[in-house]
Amino acid sequence: MPVNQSQADDARAAILERATAAFTDRFGRKPEAVAIAPGRVNLIGDHTDYSEGFVLPMAIDRFTAVAGAVRGDGSVRAGSSREGRVVTLGEVDDEGGWTRYVRGVVDLCAGAGLLVGGLDLWIESSVPTGSGLSSSAALCVGIATLIEMLAGRSLGVMAKAELCQRVEHEYAGVPCGIMDQAVIAGAEAGSAMLLDCRSLGVERVEIDESEVAVLVADTRQPRTLAGSAYADRRRACEEAAGRLGVRSLRDVRDVPGSDDEPMRCARHVVTENARVLAFGEAVNAGQWAKAGEIMNDSHASLRDDFRITGESLDAMVECAQSIDGVYGARMTGAGMGGCAVVLARRERAERVSRELAAAYESRTGRIGEVFAVRAVGGASGFLVSS
Ligand code: GLA
Repeated sequence: MPVNQSQADDARAAILERATAAFTDRFGRKPEAVAIAPGRVNLIGDHTDYSEGFVLPMAIDRFTAVAGAVRGDGSVRAGSSREGRVVTLGEVDDEGGWTRYVRGVVDLCAGAGLLVGGLDLWIESSVPTGSGLSSSAALCVGIATLIEMLAGRSLGVMAKAELCQRVEHEYAGVPCGIMDQAVIAGAEAGSAMLLDCRSLGVERVEIDESEVAVLVADTRQPRTLAGSAYADRRRACEEAAGRLGVRSLRDVRDVPGSDDEPMRCARHVVTENARVLAFGEAVNAGQWAKAGEIMNDSHASLRDDFRITGESLDAMVECAQSIDGVYGARMTGAGMGGCAVVLARRERAERVSRELAAAYESRTGRIGEVFAVRAVGGASGFLVSS
């Protein structure tokens, strides 16, 4: 169902309230600050960010809220409603789980001069995990924003995004690009973000929500970003850049006809960069049919050249593309399961969501979930008055 601005504001307020109440309940005092960070869906430009290319994601009305207060003893205690318990960092057996993100953000913020000593944290989230809507980036940016509030100093949007990207690299072993953290930190409400991953320059691409709806179609086939496919493709892109004698695939215009894996991946990146720019122009001009076609081409390139879609995503996208009222559909994010993104005519959005869920189930036997999202602003934080 399409959501409107006030529903998005209500969702944000409700989750902040839950985080504040749960913090007070668990730690026996009020939080000193709260922060909120959205999830994201990428409209177009996948597997281009780590080749210094173009991406066009938007922040969505699914949120991670973090409530926190400083501790005098230097220890860091964190809990979440998903976990249902509070753990003290350094004392948990499972430092491979979500706590490594807490550890990473706290360490790197301290390294960047945001010293707060110890911390108590409580986390509430409506960003689904394992679906490719960037729950880990929302968690990292949310905690970093909270620490900015407590330290009374801001890192700046892109520096905060880069710090959170380093957490993925150094604490979670995921060699991701900058897209997720950048849009989660810096999005503007009502717009998607056209990001140049080389210069980190951004342009707003307004989404006219009276005309179109952005739908997320979750295949419910879990994906793990740390899985080998992501790192393999990233290596293939680097190999192709080396063979073509450039620093990154951003600098390539034409890919030689060779059909081995690095060159196929390079072809995807080069053509996808062009598609991101063309899609941005089409959206700015309100040319929805054209924008949709470009999304369909993007999916075909990710399927045939980059080979990162997988059966469930192909099924979801094909089902979507055959429904009346859909301009275009493609996988979104890292691929190999997770979600597709669908651009639909606003007045058909509810029907498209229902018809797509039914078509996907009858084709795959799997129950997916299709929901409308809206473009919200990036992370923000607030001090709580005592
Ligand atoms: C994941 C990564 C991003 C990006 C996408 C693919 O979401 O975190 O940096 O590479 O996959 O576009």
